[in-house]
Amino acid sequence: MDDLKAKYLGQIAEAADEAAIEAIRLAAVGKKGEVALKMRELGKMTPEERQTAGPALNALKDEINSALAAKKAALADAALDERLRSEWLDVTLPARNRRQGTLHPISQAREELTAIFAEMGFSVAEGPRIDTDWYNFDALNIPGHHPARAEMDTFYMHRAEGDNRPPHVLRTHTSPVQIRSMEKMGAPLRVICPGGVYRADYDQTHTPMFHQVEGLALDRDISMANLKWTLEEFVKAFFEVDDVELRFRASHFPFTEPSAEVDIRCSWEGGQLKIGEGDDWLEILGSGMVHPKVIAAGGIDPDVYQGFAFGIGIDRLAMLKYGIPDLRAFFDSDLRWLRHYGFTALDMPNLHGGLSR
Ligand code: PHE
Repeated sequence: MDDLKAKYLGQIAEAADEAAIEAIRLAAVGKKGEVALKMRELGKMTPEERQTAGPALNALKDEINSALAAKKAALADAALDERLRSEWLDVTLPARNRRQGTLHPISQAREELTAIFAEMGFSVAEGPRIDTDWYNFDALNIPGHHPARAEMDTFYMHRAEGDNRPPHVLRTHTSPVQIRSMEKMGAPLRVICPGGVYRADYDQTHTPMFHQVEGLALDRDISMANLKWTLEEFVKAFFEVDDVELRFRASHFPFTEPSAEVDIRCSWEGGQLKIGEGDDWLEILGSGMVHPKVIAAGGIDPDVYQGFAFGIGIDRLAMLKYGIPDLRAFFDSDLRWLRHYGFTALDMPNLHGGLSR
């Protein structure tokens, strides 16, 4: 029995890995291992012999088992030490430089204007970019035969033959969100609805996808004077100036009565766009008192509630604020022009300091 003990403890000491340990375990203390065979021999012994041999065999089995377990643990420790030696990081090395991205000027303009209107008590609403022609036109008092329907250069969604869902369009303005907001929230109401809109149009100041922010304020006694004040306050805050010259031009929209388009004074001299000076005007928004039919389409009683609405071109605002003369640059994949115009996100160019260098 001492031979067995010496043999297996020796083998265990030499074992190089877990597989070797397992082989030794099977050979020594497994069901068909050498110790088990010896145990079977106990039956042939005299009771006296058995009394010494039995406990001795059990002790041997225990000893081999604990030697196996100890060796297994030692091997695992050694493996961990080896990993710790080979896989390490020098945390004192300087970090690699990362190029930092910037917010797109349109995103930045949208965030700024949202903050300004929020301060005036407007909450933010959203609607789908693909909408039914009812929300985009009919509910806004633009019936099927109305010329505005054609004027808006609408993109219609393709319809398969036999598809009798209502016709869908890429919304041509954010005004359908007026209706959705009235339906959802009722009156009194103060919301802005920023988002992308689509028209088949492409030149220096028009792109087929652009952004608007709709504004809608409804209450029992809201007037055109409230509209004018709100827009002036907004424009001053947005452009960070005490005075901006706005021009209210009488206009026509089917969904407002009376209606006004608002332009901002600017100059394009030398290909540079400057706001607040010069002899040019850039139209930035349409507005007016919400038509009673539109209020009714939103499920609100126009005999009780009235209010104003406006739709501002966010891209136009960003062009003016950052002095960018061509709207198409916003949607160009080459963004070096951003740096060219001195635009860095979160580091606001200030108009007095001369963004329009
Ligand atoms: N929806 C109009 C447009 O896209 C703008 C507008 C909005 C006008 C709200 C009046 C009131 O041109």
